Amino acid sequence: MAFGIYQLRRALPKPRPKILGVIVATTVLLIFFYTQLLTHEWTSELHQAFVLSRHIQNYSVLLQPRSCLAGGPITLLLALKSHSSHSDRREALRSTWAKEQIVDGQVVRRVFLLGLPGDDLIAQADSLDALVREESRQHGDILQWAFRESFFNVTLKELLFWRWFQEECSRLVLYVLKGDDDVFVDVRRILNFLKMHHDPTEPLYVGHRFVDSYPVRFWWNKYYIPPSMFSGVYPPYVGGGGYLLSRETIRLLLEASSVVPLFPIDDAYVGMCAQVANVSARHHRGFMPFEFLPSRHPCTYFGVLVLHSLKPKDLYLLWVFYRTQWYTCLGAVSNPNL
Ligand SMILES: *[C@@H]1O[C@H](CO)[C@@H](O)[C@H](O)[C@H]1NC(C)=O
Ligand SMILES: *[C@@H]1O[C@H](CO)[C@@H](O)[C@H](O)[C@H]1NC(C)=O
Ligand SMILES: *[C@@H]1O[C@H](CO)[C@@H](O)[C@H](O)[C@H]1NC(C)=O
Repeated sequence: MAFGIYQLRRALPKPRPKILGVIVATTVLLIFFYTQLLTHEWTSELHQAFVLSRHIQNYSVLLQPRSCLAGGPITLLLALKSHSSHSDRREALRSTWAKEQIVDGQVVRRVFLLGLPGDDLIAQADSLDALVREESRQHGDILQWAFRESFFNVTLKELLFWRWFQEECSRLVLYVLKGDDDVFVDVRRILNFLKMHHDPTEPLYVGHRFVDSYPVRFWWNKYYIPPSMFSGVYPPYVGGGGYLLSRETIRLLLEASSVVPLFPIDDAYVGMCAQVANVSARHHRGFMPFEFLPSRHPCTYFGVLVLHSLKPKDLYLLWVFYRTQWYTCLGAVSNPNL
């Protein structure tokens, strides 16, 4: 016999007005506290220090890459944010997808963007500096500035890169892939995308786009932004893990940055400059469509342009798989996300 809604209603105790009152009052209180939380200005010394020092941007270049100093035109420059202590990741990238190469006549070059070891690594700073200098001597792919790495200095790195690029590279380079040092990129697909889908006279700013996203207002969160620093919604921006820019876009962003005060969240800052420069953020579903999980079959990711959050070991495995067994993915899996 079916247990119908009628029996169910009889089986449950009748809601009593008192309980209802308590529920309503609690809900109202919760909503009240939540809105308070979202609009409250939590004093944060870190944010105050940031606001007071963000105009200081004249950090000098300590190490320069070879890429734009010698040689001819570069189709794609891979500009990857890294840290002094991430030599394992840089090594993995150099020997896998981020190696310098020529694909069908298109030159691909690489540069790692570094500051000085942050306060958390101050004890090892000297040995790390020596290692980075040695890496730079060997590979010629390090661009390092004289500021200390910190969560709040990430945007500074972005801005200093634009400046360096404009001065040193913009005559030679057509496109830049900006990314983190834990991403996997299908460089061939990126080059194909550029050839097929981009009009070189138009600015390009494409990646995984976020629209109508709000600053984090929970003070315990790393990404917390006080209302006094930014109110409203962020302009459209693409995720900083991996995205594409044309050299014209970098010129426009750099120009716009003179009127946009530095902001702690680097990818949102790029969106703010893009809005001022009237460059639209384009979405492409091949950019970071989902988290990488080593437990999934490599074919799950076949066809993706940029994946993020890979350990060096997984990077090697995925790279080797795509080099040797990519054809097993054809027709075997149809990726519903692409
Ligand atoms: C940056 O500018 C300030 C003020 O103009 C100056 O005191 C400082 O020495 C400069 N730093 C560098 C590295 O050039
Ligand atoms: C950024 O780097 C500079 C130079 O090392 C340092 O003085 C400053 O405190 C850093 N800023 C933050 C917010 O960490
Ligand atoms: C921004 O770009 C759009 C389309 O590209 C154009 O119609 C508009 O006039 C531009 N606005 C400014 C202020 O440059």
